[in-house]
Amino acid sequence: MTQEHPKSIIVIFGATGDLAKRKLFPSIYRLVQNEKIGKNFAVVGVARRPWTTDEFRSNVSDSIQSSMKESKDLEEFTSHFYYHPFDVTNPSSYLELNGLLTELDGTYQTEGNRIFYLAMAPEFFGTIAQNLKKEGLTDTNGWSRLVIEKPFGHDLPSARKLNQEIREAFNENQIYRIDHYLGKEMVQNIEVIRFANALFEPLWNNRYISNIQVTSSEILGVEDRGRYYENSGALRDMVQNHMLQMVALLAMEPPIKLTTDEIRSEKVKVLRALRAVAEDEVSQYFIRGQYGAGQLEDKQLVAYRDENNVDDNSQTETYVAGKLLIDNFRWAGVPFYIRTGKRMAAKSTKIVVQFKDIPMNLYYKKGETVPPNLLIIHIQPEEGITLQLNAKKDEDESGISKPVKLDLSNNFLDGINTPEAYEKLIYDCMRGDATNFTHWDEVALSWSFVDPISEAWTKGKAALASYPSGSMGPKEADDLLKEDGNQWWPVN
Ligand code: BG6
Repeated sequence: MTQEHPKSIIVIFGATGDLAKRKLFPSIYRLVQNEKIGKNFAVVGVARRPWTTDEFRSNVSDSIQSSMKESKDLEEFTSHFYYHPFDVTNPSSYLELNGLLTELDGTYQTEGNRIFYLAMAPEFFGTIAQNLKKEGLTDTNGWSRLVIEKPFGHDLPSARKLNQEIREAFNENQIYRIDHYLGKEMVQNIEVIRFANALFEPLWNNRYISNIQVTSSEILGVEDRGRYYENSGALRDMVQNHMLQMVALLAMEPPIKLTTDEIRSEKVKVLRALRAVAEDEVSQYFIRGQYGAGQLEDKQLVAYRDENNVDDNSQTETYVAGKLLIDNFRWAGVPFYIRTGKRMAAKSTKIVVQFKDIPMNLYYKKGETVPPNLLIIHIQPEEGITLQLNAKKDEDESGISKPVKLDLSNNFLDGINTPEAYEKLIYDCMRGDATNFTHWDEVALSWSFVDPISEAWTKGKAALASYPSGSMGPKEADDLLKEDGNQWWPVN
């Protein structure tokens, strides 16, 4: 049975920005090329700049050409794009926009369905949502949905305020809060690996698992986002959302059904079971670091404090490592270690599940330990899983086992054609599937966990470690695991 193509107008606020250009236009293009959406769609770009529709279309074309190997049917594709110069605080801007949307609804037969995608400065999220309702843009025969990019607030109080403003205009089930990690193929596969394999689920608990490590390292520095990043840091930028979402998926109980509500409610339970870290204990559980100058391959890299729009004495962390404990029956006593940072040695997102040691060592020399079994879930850049086992090599007379890898990386899935995270998320939103978006309860719980940590850091209650650009982070992060008798497993 072929599924009916979703029909909708997508209004992108911030259409002249980087996200639209790098991710959104190419994703919509791929959806069309892959026949996920048909002819019944239009994209309206709104932003302050006084562009014309022609200028906008040529910008869309450039974006596709620079990001895709093939770019056929571009003219037909861009003919669905329209531009509307916009002032977010001016009611007449909304009225004019509504006129254009009504017209396009007729042209493209989109049945009154509208997605309002906020890909712009967060200070306007509330204003825009409220004006959309006030000026009647959400009042159609079809559905209206609001897609919101991060950051969703800066801490719990600001997130709560933003949520209230948005909720005055949209119901929770119309709000799609993006966490693009949830659109990644292998993040979505965490549940499948766990719940579709008899091999793993029985072992997925504190009886058999020693610890779980989630690493998301980047080679890039802060680039031209100094102004944003100075007020964010790695904790708000990566931990509050992406890292905690991955922990929730790794730790949740099997949902009774694969519905949005059931999955979310299991994730929420994990976030509720996260052991809160009090301000005075932060340095026992979390390490913050900032990159200094360094070298990667033959490139010299400047220190964070020498980047544009960064304070010379900045205390902002570009790296976080932490130990999380989940106080429930399944996970009591199992540390979840997370680490993320910029200007590290590798671009890599990986999950390593370390199983407990076997009870007796038959195959290793006295005093040596048998390497543990590891399940590695490769999220990016390669995708797949590796299982590290121990086996004897035939030619080895010593009877000693060696670690061997059962490797399903790269060819596990048809890696090359794996859709972009944004492609999946836009498609999900068009179909009304909110499973891979963050519910307000998840956002609130994540901020409650993270806030005392940033408070402690703001008050200078923990040292800011330095690490050279191009390294895997500060030594203090290794010590965090060493204290538990553990070590970070390499990500390369
Ligand atoms: C974003 C952060 O949410 O995620 C960026 O704001 C970060 O700072 C990015 O670089 C990482 O995403 P990915 O998909 O490249 O791992």
